[in-house]
Amino acid sequence: MSAKEINEIKAIAGSYNLENYDQVKDTFEWEDAAKELSYFQTGKVNAAYETIDRHVEEGYGDKIALHYINGDERKSLTFNEVKHQTDHYAQVLKDHGVQKGDRVFVFLPKTPACYISILAVIKIGAIAGPLFEAFMEEAVKDRINDCKGTVLITDKELVKRVPQKDIPSLETILFAEEIDALPQAPAKESLVEWVDLEDGLIIHYTSGSTGKPKGVLHAHRSMIHHIISGKWVLDIQEDDVYWCTSHPGWVTGSVYGLFAPWLNRATIVIQGGRFKAENWYQLIAELKVTTWYSAPTAFRMLLSQGEIFKEYDLSSLRHILSVGEPLNPEVIHWAWNNLGLRIHDTWWMTETGGHLIVNLPNEKIKPGSMGRPFPGITVGILDSEGNELPRGSVGQLAIRAPWPGLMKEIWGNKDKFNSYFLYEGWYISGDLALQDEEGYVFFQGRSDDMINSAGERIGPFEVESKLIEHPAVSEAGVVGKPDPIRGEIVKAFITLRTGFVESEALLEEIRLFVRKNLSAHAAPREIEVVDELPKTKISGKILRRKLKEQELQKLHA
Ligand code: PRX
Repeated sequence: MSAKEINEIKAIAGSYNLENYDQVKDTFEWEDAAKELSYFQTGKVNAAYETIDRHVEEGYGDKIALHYINGDERKSLTFNEVKHQTDHYAQVLKDHGVQKGDRVFVFLPKTPACYISILAVIKIGAIAGPLFEAFMEEAVKDRINDCKGTVLITDKELVKRVPQKDIPSLETILFAEEIDALPQAPAKESLVEWVDLEDGLIIHYTSGSTGKPKGVLHAHRSMIHHIISGKWVLDIQEDDVYWCTSHPGWVTGSVYGLFAPWLNRATIVIQGGRFKAENWYQLIAELKVTTWYSAPTAFRMLLSQGEIFKEYDLSSLRHILSVGEPLNPEVIHWAWNNLGLRIHDTWWMTETGGHLIVNLPNEKIKPGSMGRPFPGITVGILDSEGNELPRGSVGQLAIRAPWPGLMKEIWGNKDKFNSYFLYEGWYISGDLALQDEEGYVFFQGRSDDMINSAGERIGPFEVESKLIEHPAVSEAGVVGKPDPIRGEIVKAFITLRTGFVESEALLEEIRLFVRKNLSAHAAPREIEVVDELPKTKISGKILRRKLKEQELQKLHA
């Protein structure tokens, strides 16, 4: 980037929270970040206290904490109001006997109640398990059963997708509508349960290439990572209106939709409803959003709608970020040419708990790269024996462990946890990448069969297991097929049981079966019936890799 371009951006941005990556990258200590939190003086921690209560105590109670927008509905809450509501929810949870360390699930659409519920759970020392609002019965059941959740906060609509009889650990279901309607008694004493940095904070379920989704448990210490990356990468400043488009059921929606912005006292936007380009632009214009964190699929969908953005005043925007899937240079160029802003890519994973590879706001961007390691983070590109490869080579993307955001454990699965740390001192991401001489990291794909559709991580095993529950399906192999908008779509190859004949109607029925029982985002967009599936000779395992190769050859033919 030329000096002129940097100055132009600076003129829009004012001053940055982090002036120069090169100055801090070698000297930064995580301990410096910990000093931003009040626990540093007391030794006591609670992430809900640090996100909300602390700002009230420091005199910012009247500042707007959130704007909620859904269709014609509008609501804004101050930090005072969020604190009171969080206390109210926390008291209700306590009255129902919730104790430190219990797993309390939150299954709500993107509304203030969803954010408040998560914080209330954390405030009393329990572990929050947020669930994506589009999950269907099987997805909900598997997750709550896995870590034996005892309490669920949901609403009268979503509860229809909770198969209560099949979740034996679940003792109590609370409805947000009913909690809201209860009289709010002023709390007699603080409801904050002071915990240890290592105590459990939040559990996010995520897919791998084998088995059911795994529960990635994060500890309160991860807020050290959240606060400093919120400051430097999101570049949150006092007057910002910050909008992260992800639902808190996904790690981006909790870490960078809730914790990082609120630890930095930002005003956040919570938007309900489905994606619609006009509504998104309208939201930015109406609420004067300054900082916007979304995903490449969303940007590509906006881009595909042509020039309608010209009808909206988007001049409040000063910083745009992206995560979850490869960000194509065309999208960066579109935003630069049309909005006068660069989109800043960030790379991290559910397991890593926070940003690891980033583009800081005032640093040079190389379109096609995910950016450089966050200060305090060391990247290694490893060969299959765990040796570091020279710059410019493609290998396994690994990070020197630990760092504050790193997961604490995989719930009840030590082997799975250990599988991330096969080589002494390294966390292995499962991504393939190369790093250039200047430290920029370029994504090259996955080393396993995980599918990334619209930035959402989908495990083929979960989809295959659901497919073969359908009476017509004998065997199934599921892969990601490249797609210009969604990055990849889920494609299923199936064989039919005898007696069933392929038809459009049957394939649609099978697709809906997965959609209805698992979730919409994991349902195959394409299903192809084949006579047989390729398998390994010895164990007879379905060779997804072969299916994917065939699919890619077809695309390039
Ligand atoms: O393959 C990488 C891809 O998303 C995976 C992590 O998915 P998840 O745990 O759902 O977290 C998503 C957001 C934190 C990674 O292993 N991924 C994430 N960010 C990028 C990316 N691929 C390319 N570019 C990125 N910026």
